[in-house]
Parts: sequence; C-alpha cells; structure tokens
Amino acid sequence: MNAIQIFDTTLRDGEQAPGYAMNIDEKLRMALQLESLGVDVMEAGFAVASPGDFASVKAIAGAIKTSSVCSLSRATEKDIDASAAAIKDAVRPRIHTFIATSDIHLKYKLRISRADCLKRIRRAVAYARNLCGEVEFSAEDASRTDIDFLCKALETAIAAGAAVVNIPDTVGYSTPDEFGAIVSAVMNRVKGIENAVVSTHCHDDLGLAVANSLAGVRAGARQVECTVCGIGERAGNAALEEIAMGLKTRRDAYGAIATRIKTEEIARTAHLLSTITGVRIAPGKAIVGTNAFAHESGIHQHGVLSNAETYEIMTPESVGMKKTELVLGKHSGQHALENRLKDLGYELDADRAAEVFAAFKALADRKKKITDRDLVALAESRVSSKKDATREWRLDSFVVNSGNHMSATAQITLVKGRRTVQEAAIGTGPIYAAFRAVEKIIRHRFVLEDYRIEAVTERRDALGEVLVKISDAKGSYRGRGVSTDVIEGSILALLVAVNRMLEAKQ
Ligand code: KIV
Ligand code: ZN
Repeated sequence: MNAIQIFDTTLRDGEQAPGYAMNIDEKLRMALQLESLGVDVMEAGFAVASPGDFASVKAIAGAIKTSSVCSLSRATEKDIDASAAAIKDAVRPRIHTFIATSDIHLKYKLRISRADCLKRIRRAVAYARNLCGEVEFSAEDASRTDIDFLCKALETAIAAGAAVVNIPDTVGYSTPDEFGAIVSAVMNRVKGIENAVVSTHCHDDLGLAVANSLAGVRAGARQVECTVCGIGERAGNAALEEIAMGLKTRRDAYGAIATRIKTEEIARTAHLLSTITGVRIAPGKAIVGTNAFAHESGIHQHGVLSNAETYEIMTPESVGMKKTELVLGKHSGQHALENRLKDLGYELDADRAAEVFAAFKALADRKKKITDRDLVALAESRVSSKKDATREWRLDSFVVNSGNHMSATAQITLVKGRRTVQEAAIGTGPIYAAFRAVEKIIRHRFVLEDYRIEAVTERRDALGEVLVKISDAKGSYRGRGVSTDVIEGSILALLVAVNRMLEAKQ
C-alpha cells in the first residue's frame, strides 16, 4: 500500500513543451535511462499523433523490460487502436485514455453533455480493456470539475475496467489544500475505488505542482505523474526528482511511503535530458541545478566543513552528483579515459572510444585541466553521429576571415569517404560564411532554426559547446560540437545536424 508508483511522462507531456522535441533515437536513449532510474511507468508518447510518435512508442515498448510502457489516447477507438498497436510488444503494456470532465471543457471544447461524457468514458475504457490488460483513465481538468460529477466519472471508468484513475490539475489552478481535498473525496466517495490506484497529474502554472502532488499522496494517491526537471506543457509538470527526494528526505512528514526511484541516477537522468534537448538546467533548480549543493557564504562553508548536515538536508551523492571531479590531463591513457567515461554513463564502442580519445588528446594540448564536464561534452558530440563514418561529411580544414571593415569569408574543406570537396562563401559574420560554405558543399538547403554557444567550464581555455538546430522540408535536426575554437565547434555541430538531415533524406 505504501509504495508510490512513479509515472514518468517526460516523453509525452514533457516532450510537448517548446524546445523539448526529441527524435526516435533520443527518445529511446531517454527511455532506457528512465528505466535505469527505476520509474514504474513511462508514458512513451501519443501514438496516434503522428507516424513518428507511433514509431517512437513502438521502439520504446520493444526495448523496455522492467517499467510499464504506456501510450496516451483520447477516448476514441482510433486513438486507442493506435496505442494498442504501438505498445503490443511491451513486457508491461498500459493504455492511457482521457476525456475532459469539467463543464467549461464539456461546453466549449467537446460540446457534449455530462451524460455523453460518461457514455464515452464507459465505451473508451471498455474498448481499451479488451485490447490491453491494464488501462488508466484520466479526467482532464479534474481539479475544475464539479466534485460529484468527477466521482461519477471515475466510478464509471473503474466499473468499465480502469485499474488506475488519474486526477489531473490540467491548468495548474489548484492549491495543496484543495487538491488534497479532491483526492480525499475521491478516496471516500467513489464506488470501487479500493480496486483502483488513484493518481495525480499536476501542472505548475502557479508553481504548486509538486506541493499539490504531495498533498494528493498524503490524501491517498499512490501514483504520481511527473517529468524529469518538471518539463511539460506551459509552465511544466511536477518535477520527478523533487517528488522522489521530497518523499525520501521528509519521511518524517510523509510516513513510510517510498518510491522505487534509484535516486543516485537522478543527476545523470536530468543531465541526459539537458544534453539531448540542448536546454540547460537552471543553476538554482532544486535537486539537480549546479547550485543545489553549492555553499557560497563563508558562514555556510564553515558549517558544512564541520558537519555537512548544518546546511545540507540530503547529500549530493544521494542524487548522483559526484563531489569529486577527477581531473585528467595529457598524460592520461585511453584506459583511464574510458573508465572515467563509464563512470559518467558512457559506454562507447571501439571506434567512438578511439575518436573521443583523439579529441581528448587534442584538447589536452590546449587545456591543462580536463574535467568531467569537458569529457561529457566530448563524448556527447560523438555519441549522436552515425556509425558508418564513410557516409558522413567530416571536417578536414577551414579558414575564416572576419573583421569590422570587411565581409566575413570562409573556405571549408569537407571529406566524405574518398571524396574531398572545398568551397568558399561570404557572409555577414564568420559563422554565417562557414555555414553557407557547408551548404554549398552538401548541395542541400537548410534553415538555421537555432544556434547557441556556451562555455563548458570556467576560464579562458574553456571548451565552447555549440548547439545548432537546422530544418528542411522533412524535419528539424540538432547537432552539438565542442572545441576550444568556437568556429570549429560551430562547424562540427552543423555537420552532426547536416549528416542527420541527409540520412533522413535517404
Ligand atoms: O494535463 C493533463 O490533463 C494531461 C492529461 C492528458 C493526463 O496531460
Ligand atoms: Zn498534463
């Protein structure tokens, strides 16, 4: 009774947020890490939404062994059929179906009566139950639904076969007291509730998503829907790491309630999400921000040195933040590098390991101290490139000229297998010129959607990490490149994106 199921919706509600779109390989990588984190259920996507979503849900369902894999569906046969087909290979499949229950949604969005809504719930859940052993029903906008009707809706879903009933605070409107009261009412009044798991799904529009979810747990909910770093529609969802660490750290307040989350995997999971999407974690983000365990004031530092508990309510190690940053240098060998990368979660095949080692050696000539953050940046810039190197464009050399009284020019030489191609271009700045020269070489037009550059570590010799997003008629593609030279980093990032774009074209 006291185990809380963590239902992760990073790959569905989280991915819906602007800037967090992932391709199928990225979703699969994230799903495997969510499994290592120990989530009980992962919502892999919304299968009916697009062929790409369907393929991602299917790939995840086929790869995940321990967590349940579910797909979201509106309360229609078409949506439910798509979900059922996408998750059919899952070890533990679940169909999640939803319909709005608040009067405002019934009247203005669905244009149906309450009676019709109940009919649709009954039909959809029964239909899903015929196709899948485990069905979850969500009453969208539950927190703004008349409580008698919400109880009726959930009762209908349970009678039709739902094993989990979810109470979303879809618009993030509730307060902890109110939300706790809604869950209590459901626990006390819904017939058959003892045969179902009650779930929370809170949005963060008023910054109360985690507080509301925990109030729901206190009132009897035994599943919490959340996302890594709280990403999701608008202001996001409840943050998984905050729920897991809140329950673990404040056992005195919440009682003997535990999640199965391996909290030591939290930092790695959050960093993977950030690496994949290119969205940085805010320094002050609870649990996983770089400042979450940093003590700046002298008084605090003194206290922590004599006894960490003076200012630390949990240890950095308990969330997988390693305090010790092992520093590697130019005399470190490939074995030491590979071991360190393994600790950081990167098991590279022989070709990639050799490539990262060569990049590491080149970096060691330019930078004295190479930290974990440098290694992650190097490894990440290689992880995403394709296996067959002979079919990819690679950078051979570049020369760029720019100044405040001249047009920037770039001359770039790329190689692909045995072909070597050189082109020159002019631009309003050096990056523009370099990207234009690449475009001429590959003979494929693209739009530059996003370009970001950040220093990986402090100091002047820091690596610059460049994130590039380009698009063509078929889709958008991200690339990451690192170098102590920002122009080189930019070209490398562009080439990762370009190779993905050309692969998709084929
Ligand atoms: O916020 C919401 O109501 C949802 C449902 C589809 C569960 O995401
Ligand atoms: Zn939601």
